[in-house]
Amino acid sequence: MEKNKKYYITTPIYYPSGDFHIGTCYCTLMADTIARYKRLRGYDVFFMTGTDEHGQKIEGKAKEKGVTPKEFVDESVRRAKELWEVLKISYDKYMRTTDDYHVKAVQRICQKLYDSGDIYKGEYKGLYCTPCESFWTETQLVDGKCPDCGREVKEVKEEAYFFKLSKYQDRLVKYYEEHPEFLEPEKCKNEMINNFFNKGLEDLCISRTTINWGIQVPFDPKHTVYVWLDALTNYITALGYTTDEDELFKKYWPADLHLVGKEIFRFHSIIWPAILMALDLPLPKKIFGHGWLVINGKKISKSFGNYKDPRIYINATSVDAVRYYLLKEITFGDDGNFSEELFVERTNSDLSNDLGNLVSRVTAMVEKYNNGIVVKNDELPLQDVDKELIQTAKDMVDNVENSMDNYKINEAVSEIWKLISKANKYIDLTAPWVLAKEENKDRLHQVLYNLLETIRIVAVVLQMCFVDTPSKIFEQIGVDAEDTTWDSAKQFGTLKNGTKVKKGEILFPRVEMTEELFKVEEEQEEEEDKKGIITIDELDKVEFKVGQIKQVERVPKSKKLYKLSVDVGEKEPRTIVSGIVPYYSEEELMNKQIMVVTNLKPVKLCGIESQGMLLAAGDDDVVKLLVLDNNEGTLENGTNIH
Ligand code: MSP
Repeated sequence: MEKNKKYYITTPIYYPSGDFHIGTCYCTLMADTIARYKRLRGYDVFFMTGTDEHGQKIEGKAKEKGVTPKEFVDESVRRAKELWEVLKISYDKYMRTTDDYHVKAVQRICQKLYDSGDIYKGEYKGLYCTPCESFWTETQLVDGKCPDCGREVKEVKEEAYFFKLSKYQDRLVKYYEEHPEFLEPEKCKNEMINNFFNKGLEDLCISRTTINWGIQVPFDPKHTVYVWLDALTNYITALGYTTDEDELFKKYWPADLHLVGKEIFRFHSIIWPAILMALDLPLPKKIFGHGWLVINGKKISKSFGNYKDPRIYINATSVDAVRYYLLKEITFGDDGNFSEELFVERTNSDLSNDLGNLVSRVTAMVEKYNNGIVVKNDELPLQDVDKELIQTAKDMVDNVENSMDNYKINEAVSEIWKLISKANKYIDLTAPWVLAKEENKDRLHQVLYNLLETIRIVAVVLQMCFVDTPSKIFEQIGVDAEDTTWDSAKQFGTLKNGTKVKKGEILFPRVEMTEELFKVEEEQEEEEDKKGIITIDELDKVEFKVGQIKQVERVPKSKKLYKLSVDVGEKEPRTIVSGIVPYYSEEELMNKQIMVVTNLKPVKLCGIESQGMLLAAGDDDVVKLLVLDNNEGTLENGTNIH
């Protein structure tokens, strides 16, 4: 046992831009399995997951929903935590980049790197979409246009801060050479070296002046920290780095494993170690890049819309069935297919038939042939068939350890199933029903005992990947707590004489693949239909009113926003913030009667609460307000518009 050795494992921090899908669950489940395995092996584990909550995407999503970015991320995080609870993810800390300790620590890190000369001011050149207020790289464009709205982008320059990544190129290469175990798998490492190091590293832009929803750069507050310096540092800020309360940091850093998807492997293997070098901190022991869950070769992703809420699969089967499929079916490090048909097939064959039937057959036989009482008789010599089963059980534990220690998770799970399959064959070979008929009691007890022990050992090891099944098995075969430890799986013969076995509920009921089985609930369909047709009732929910602009002011520091006072027939005029500075002068707007949406949830724009929306037509070149044809003044402010 590796008692008291620490083990710090992380998943990436996810963008909370909507509900998580089964692809997002993949990495978290893998990390959870490794964390559970290490705990079983006696390690003092710290397992962290969390959310990466800043940036223009989140800001945009919040705007779409008519809520503040903070309200938006709070709700997403609530839903994410709910999902992790359903999947029984055993994380020790959920970190959020909007948490105060992180914000302050990122600012301290920024200052430190600025003071040491690793951060400098420069000029960022990029492709900018004005309506979306977003920067894009050449490769992100779709047909040369903005990937979000499809409009033209233009090249712009803006002042920005840069991290001297290029300075660390040689040190990084040397580090990879001296620590061949640092980056895994080999193919990710090679791809990264070929694509980035051979071309030479460029310095990294770490600030923006155009993104409001971010951490302010401490030495230049009109800038916010851009993406990676905010996101990657989570692995140390969450442990208290830069604060007085840094016991966790002292105890757990450096991390033993950062588990990441292959598309973010390069950020973790280049930028992150370089930042750590600049901070004079030790590097994590390993960065492992896993593949994607795909459907028909296409990554499961929110933006491709090829996803379902993982709870649909859990509700139709069980948490352990979903965990089994992801752990076993996908070679860790490669892409893996998620197929509903295969998921059902595996659940029925590997779980219901192989494991479920083994447990129910054996417990039923012990009940039938010996009133549920275990008889342990060490006097009777073992036969070859017994020795083979016992050896397979011993090998299984060794092989699982070996595979898990080398992060070959699917191979580890396969090892367990080899033993299950051996046990099923052992039943056929020893035919306990014949022994019962022949009244060969001693041998019958011996065979049943060997089977129960095998089941116990299987259940002990399964605790690393299953969350409900092991305890159900322990209950059925009456195992004492001390015989559920990892070390107990290395000893064949710990189940006590006289133990009471009680056949329980079926562990994995068979499922039938029907159209109804994984039906998407209306809520998700609604989400997808958002851009489609609406009913008259839905339209009726929107309140349009005649409003008159009574006052116009520019919003300080904003190029586009006016703060307007609009009379919509209420006691007090409404404050409405609108991005029409480029299209109307203050004089042109005064006293105009316009169309206003008055029951929109208020949002804060540049710190001002906007209590409605003016309707306008056009694109970024021409924008025209919908003005009322009401010269004769018969329509009063506040009149409903139908
Ligand atoms: N926020 C960044 C990570 C910052 S870490 C300091 C990010 N977030 S993400 O939400 O877009 O992705 C998080 C992880 O989910 C990535 O590792 C990504 O590979 C993983 N997955 C997203 N879709 C996936 C599949 N279809 N299959 C497997 N993993 C997938 O990147």
